[in-house]
Amino acid sequence: MEHSILVAGGAGYIGTHTLVSLIQTGYRPVVFDNFSNSGIVAIERVEKITGVAVECIVGDIRDASALDSAFQQCADRGQPVSCVLHLAALKAVGESNSMPLAYYDNNVTGTLVLLEAMRRAGVGTIVFSSSATVYGEPEFLPFVETHRIAPTNPYGWTKAMVEQILRDLCASDPAIKAICLRYFNPIGAHESGLIGEDPRGEPNNLFPYITRTAVGRSACLRIFGDDYDTPDGTGVRDYVHVADLADGHVKAIDYALSSRSGQGFAAFNLGTGRGTSVKELIGAFERESGVPVPHQVTSRRAGDIGEAWADPALANQVLGWAARRSVDQMCRDGWNWQKNNPDGYPEKE
Ligand code: NAD
Ligand code: WQD
Repeated sequence: MEHSILVAGGAGYIGTHTLVSLIQTGYRPVVFDNFSNSGIVAIERVEKITGVAVECIVGDIRDASALDSAFQQCADRGQPVSCVLHLAALKAVGESNSMPLAYYDNNVTGTLVLLEAMRRAGVGTIVFSSSATVYGEPEFLPFVETHRIAPTNPYGWTKAMVEQILRDLCASDPAIKAICLRYFNPIGAHESGLIGEDPRGEPNNLFPYITRTAVGRSACLRIFGDDYDTPDGTGVRDYVHVADLADGHVKAIDYALSSRSGQGFAAFNLGTGRGTSVKELIGAFERESGVPVPHQVTSRRAGDIGEAWADPALANQVLGWAARRSVDQMCRDGWNWQKNNPDGYPEKE
């Protein structure tokens, strides 16, 4: 049977890439998104890539009746939702420091409303977008899933809190399955260049800054510190191709819906296991794109850690997932998206 998957936040950066993988694996995704950080054109682009019409319900996860009717709609036509993929969240770390209540409301309250609606609809399986940010300052590297959870900002706390809620929920009911995917640093884009990351306003992350500088939307990239205890002094992260991440969601859903997933709650790192510095990433991008990225070193960004990378062994052993794509490919594909869409998605096509 083709399973229906309700994809909350499916119109966003990671969501759209995951839709492509879900469709190409034979799942039937139904998007539920309030378009607070995305738009319908992204879904139309997914349809163009896959040749499949994607059902999209415009709604907010804090709206119980909108969720009830979404689940009901699927059940009424004989395609009840088997699993919820929950990517819907606000995700800007800096903004979460200045607007913590908006973050707790959207990300934590929203998840509670979603979980209640799942209970009413009889849906017991959820795959949740968590983040490596739940670990905070590393006690040791690479991060393994049993590392201390100690986020350093409200955004990270929303992820840690939702993980705890899911852990408690699974403990209360053996029929519930919850898988938390702790993404490291997703970058790049689908190889078609039709979908990619399109931050509204100022980007928060390094890679979109690099690509925007390369297309001339920013004059100069700032490197936040070159005095870290790393080989070249700049920050080191575990960049993972968004298409690999998308495949990780499919593996997680396969696992959650299979008889292999005995235990209710599980959390997995999704990273490559390799660190890349800011300077190395800029170098790889310039090489792959042939476009220079003007940059200058400035002071450290408050709250940053020097280095972080994943131990992805658990996801490999249990889910059968491993990242396949190189940093060079991340740069090529990310550049292909940005150069074809210098201003991001249009309002309409
Ligand atoms: P995104 O902003 O592109 O996508 C999130 C989507 O959720 C958007 O389409 C937005 O409109 C929607 N949304 C937000 N609040 C909603 C609500 N209340 N109701 C319905 N829809 C809502 O972000 P992304 O980069 O694709 O991230 C997806 C998930 O992965 C998020 O949960 C994010 O916290 C998590 N994550 C992202 C990264 C990253 O670097 N991109 C890293 C780790 C974890
Ligand atoms: C990477 C490196 C910066 C911008 C954040 C969130 C985390 C997760 C992913 C969602 C660091 C440096 C950056 C710039 C720079 N998101 N940098 N100049 O900090 O690992 O993680 O995004 O869950 O929660 O905290 O990613 O891309 O912001 O930074 O030099 O203009 O690039 O100092 O070393 P980070 P990032």
